[in-house]
Amino acid sequence: MTRASAFAGRSVTLCVTGSIAAYKAVLVLRQLLTAGARVNVVMTPSARQFVGAATFAGLTGRPVYGELFAPDQPGEPHVELGKTSALVLVVPATADVLARFAAGRADDLTSALALCARCPILVAPAMHPSMWNHPATERNVRTLRADGRVHFVGPVDGEVASGELGTGRMAEPDDIVAAAGALLASGPLEGVRVLVTAGPTTEDIDPVRYIGNRSSGKMGFAIAEQAAALGATVTLVAGPVSLPTPKGVTRVDVRTAESLKSALWQALGSDLSGVDVLIMSAAVADYRPATPSSTKIRRSDQPLTLSLVPNPDLLAEIGRARQGARPLLVGFALGTESQADAIATARKKLADKRVDLVVSNHAAESIGRDDIVAMLVGESSCELVPRAPKRVLAERLLGWVASALAPRQA
Ligand SMILES: Cc1cc2nc3c(=O)[nH]c(=O)nc-3n(C[C@H](O)[C@H](O)[C@H](O)COP(=O)(O)O)c2cc1C
Repeated sequence: MTRASAFAGRSVTLCVTGSIAAYKAVLVLRQLLTAGARVNVVMTPSARQFVGAATFAGLTGRPVYGELFAPDQPGEPHVELGKTSALVLVVPATADVLARFAAGRADDLTSALALCARCPILVAPAMHPSMWNHPATERNVRTLRADGRVHFVGPVDGEVASGELGTGRMAEPDDIVAAAGALLASGPLEGVRVLVTAGPTTEDIDPVRYIGNRSSGKMGFAIAEQAAALGATVTLVAGPVSLPTPKGVTRVDVRTAESLKSALWQALGSDLSGVDVLIMSAAVADYRPATPSSTKIRRSDQPLTLSLVPNPDLLAEIGRARQGARPLLVGFALGTESQADAIATARKKLADKRVDLVVSNHAAESIGRDDIVAMLVGESSCELVPRAPKRVLAERLLGWVASALAPRQA
């Protein structure tokens, strides 16, 4: 994967801490933005002694995060950034922040974020050689390496701010961005085969008319795009929509529930071993005309009654056929009921169809829109995703998928 494609559309949180090298974080930020990353910047109070937040805000077009408790930024920024980031980058990383990470502190936004982050964390230490070589720092670095959650780029040998020589100089911005790109390219879904269904199906009444629904396919396409960006091998089975195929995704176009079913089983294989994760976001028609006419039905003055028969319940069929825990099954439940009823419906769907996660959403809050309000309902969990672009829900959903797969892959 090229560096540009590794960053394209990915959310990176850049934490800047209090070293003279903080000005170089601006150069790193510029490269991340040029490579297509969406970057949120967190600055410690000490970092603000070295570079102005306005520089970062100006470049990203977003406010800079600072204190853990910020009246102008409601919610829990450490939790939100931890869930949505594909990478947390600490540039420069002070001896102090390494000590806080090693101790598992959570009394500032950067440290609390490091505890919440589900994604890789990359630090670029920068400090005087006497700080880097101090037994306390060495101990902290050893702890962080042993914990395996924090990756290091640098420091390197060379001249530090005081003019002295030694190890402690921050790695060059180019090298930091290359290390970040390498971490992102080996995404959390690297080597995972993901099958996504998207869009509506249409069921023929006669050769020119059909029964359809208002699904736009945007949700499934966003999931396919994000899964590919996270390193997965993605097949997208798409109903009739005119959306462009996301980069790196294999697309199979279908029209009816029956043709979607054939495409699904073709990819899954009879023993379901062809896919690791199946995400069923398509709005598959529940019914189809019992006997579609082979010729166009002529207009008449008489009422026309269409007899409908149920389409196969594909998710239930696959849930029943599944032996063990693979493929991981994610279903969508689109309804018009209240939130409490929607949770109950989702839990029933989990149990009846033997799926692992149900994304519950309200028709008025999702159909045809670019944004969505949804709940990720698991057997014993329920996570609300407040109104956000469908891409954000895709990131959250795939974060859940990556965590669910992790113990099995270990
Ligand atoms: C002028 C100046 C330069 C500093 N440069 C560094 C540095 O390069 N690396 C470092 O670890 N600490 C450096 N410090 C000390 C940190 O700013 C200090 O430990 C601070 O508490 C770090 O807070 P933070 O990690 O929350 O940003 C410097 C302090 C001053 C006054």
